[in-house]
Amino acid sequence: MSELIKRTMYCGKPRLSDEGKTVRLNGWVQRSRRLGRLIFCDLRDKTGVVQIVFDEELPSDVFAAAETLRSEFVIGIEGVCRERESKNPELSTGDVEIRAERIEIYSVAETPPIYVRDDDNVSEELRMKYRYLDLRKLRMQRNLVFRHEVCRVTRAFFSDCGFVEIETPMLIRPTPEGARDYLVPSRVNNGNFYALPQSPQMYKQLLMASGADRYFQIARCFRDEDLRADRQPEFTQIDLEMSFVDVDDVIAVQEAYIKALLKETLEIDIEIPFPRFTYDEAMTRFGTDKPDTRFGLELVDIGDIAEGCAFSVFADAVRTGGSVRGLCVPGGAAAYSRKETDRLADIAKNYGAKGLAWIKLTEDGVSSPLGKFFSDEEMAALVSAFGACAGDLILIVADKDKTVFAALDRLRVSVAEKLGLIDESRYDFLWVTEFPLFETDEESGGYKAMHHPFTMPDPRDVAGLESDPASVRALAYDIVLNGTEIGGGSIRIHDRELQNRMFETLGLSEDDIRSKFGFLLDAFRYGVPPHGGLAYGLDRLVMLLLGEDSIRETMAFPKNQAAEDPVSGAPGEATPEQLAELGLALWKR
Ligand code: AMO
Ligand code: AMP
Repeated sequence: MSELIKRTMYCGKPRLSDEGKTVRLNGWVQRSRRLGRLIFCDLRDKTGVVQIVFDEELPSDVFAAAETLRSEFVIGIEGVCRERESKNPELSTGDVEIRAERIEIYSVAETPPIYVRDDDNVSEELRMKYRYLDLRKLRMQRNLVFRHEVCRVTRAFFSDCGFVEIETPMLIRPTPEGARDYLVPSRVNNGNFYALPQSPQMYKQLLMASGADRYFQIARCFRDEDLRADRQPEFTQIDLEMSFVDVDDVIAVQEAYIKALLKETLEIDIEIPFPRFTYDEAMTRFGTDKPDTRFGLELVDIGDIAEGCAFSVFADAVRTGGSVRGLCVPGGAAAYSRKETDRLADIAKNYGAKGLAWIKLTEDGVSSPLGKFFSDEEMAALVSAFGACAGDLILIVADKDKTVFAALDRLRVSVAEKLGLIDESRYDFLWVTEFPLFETDEESGGYKAMHHPFTMPDPRDVAGLESDPASVRALAYDIVLNGTEIGGGSIRIHDRELQNRMFETLGLSEDDIRSKFGFLLDAFRYGVPPHGGLAYGLDRLVMLLLGEDSIRETMAFPKNQAAEDPVSGAPGEATPEQLAELGLALWKR
């Protein structure tokens, strides 16, 4: 049995000012090498790495123990801090080393399947399987600590603003967020199922009816949906709700929160209030409801020129209610060869466009596949609509609005990335407001709520709830950071009659309403305040603040593409006894 060498310092901490001090360190061997009569060992813990030196003047058992050290052994040492002969500016401790006098080997390690190095380029699959090794990397430790800091600042900020953190249940009835639920079978109520919450939405509204006034929670949410870099089946929201507020009240608290968060975690001063774009403005200027404003390349509507032109694709798009829009890439004529404009066309096609028209402006004049359809005057009008000049490249898509926006949004980002137009040091927060209340449900052809069915219609549009639902705006808002939606919320309906009109437009039957939302509507019969709130995706927020490109880098144990936990192997099979107890039989799909 080894004896515990009680730590006096973390590995990342020794400095020249500690010279001459006896220190005791615990950690993992990063690597160990023998050079003549010396053994050098890099010792690592979550704070950093420090060099340990063993020399032959040590008692022979200490030196012999040091000779056995290999990567990932867990050891404790006691030694004296001294100035290093050849300094290592890469390490925070690079001016010093510890001359060991005592060593305890707490545990030996087999050759690890992945190296514990930040620059290790091993596959994500292996990293996830051996997550406990992956997490030893200083970058991952930094990420976990940063996430913790975000939570700490969040709790402090909202607590100071009079919000109370209240936990809501995990085993509940299905929530109305619109993704697929994870179901949990009930043993006691055979044949019945709980849903895991997609969000605490209905409970936080119940809490407003309960008089909580200002609630927040760092809440785990579950959504069985297709995974992407910024989506996990299990993720965390910073969820909040306020009573007696309007849109501006909710937004003001969030701006103060984000300002405090960036100051305290990154020491960055950001300007508030954030810019606000209505949904329509965001779509027409950027083609998306989550625009990245760190670069320009704004869209231009050329419908009026396209309408009467000889190119039938353009004229027909306008005539059939679609649009013709494009963007101008300054200096793009030289940056994009013919082959590369073909690649841009492929991007546009991936997003449903049937083609991509382009115009190159060179010193010698205009080059474009549209040349044959446009007179010189029409071409000049097009070029001037884009404010383009020699050297620029214009990209144009004609289709129904949805396709035009989706394709141009993607092209805009692709061009900005290729030409290096994105200033990575910026944090561009913005609000998108006045979302449509409804969107068309592609499956049923009817309407579905764009946010959720409790979202308050804009009072200016409420008269059209039945006659013209598509034109009704919502008191809903999203907060966007550098082109990613990090949060969203709304003012809620607190009026039963209005809520019923909403359900009617959504085509929900009485039975549906009762079984899905009955308990919330019942609560609203006994006095409910006007209320509203919002939820941030904590994982996404942390990802963006850290400059990571996947939320998996911000979570200790994320799921893989198949929604499995590669460490534990979940999900796994249930035993026949468990199934019997739950009254379940399985059939294989
Ligand atoms: P919403 O569905 O927009 O709103 O979710 C709020 C925020 O949660 C994050 N998010 C996710 N993050 C990681 N993986 C996922 N699968 C995932 N899904 C969502 C996003 C999103 O902006 N109850 C409402 C909020 C409200 O109205 O107050 C809600 O859940 O960053
Ligand atoms: P065509 O006459 O079919 O060769 O088309 C002329 C140009 O228009 C080509 O560069 C096509 O890629 C482009 N184009 C075709 N359909 C569209 C569309 N829906 N929107 C924009 N450009 C298109």
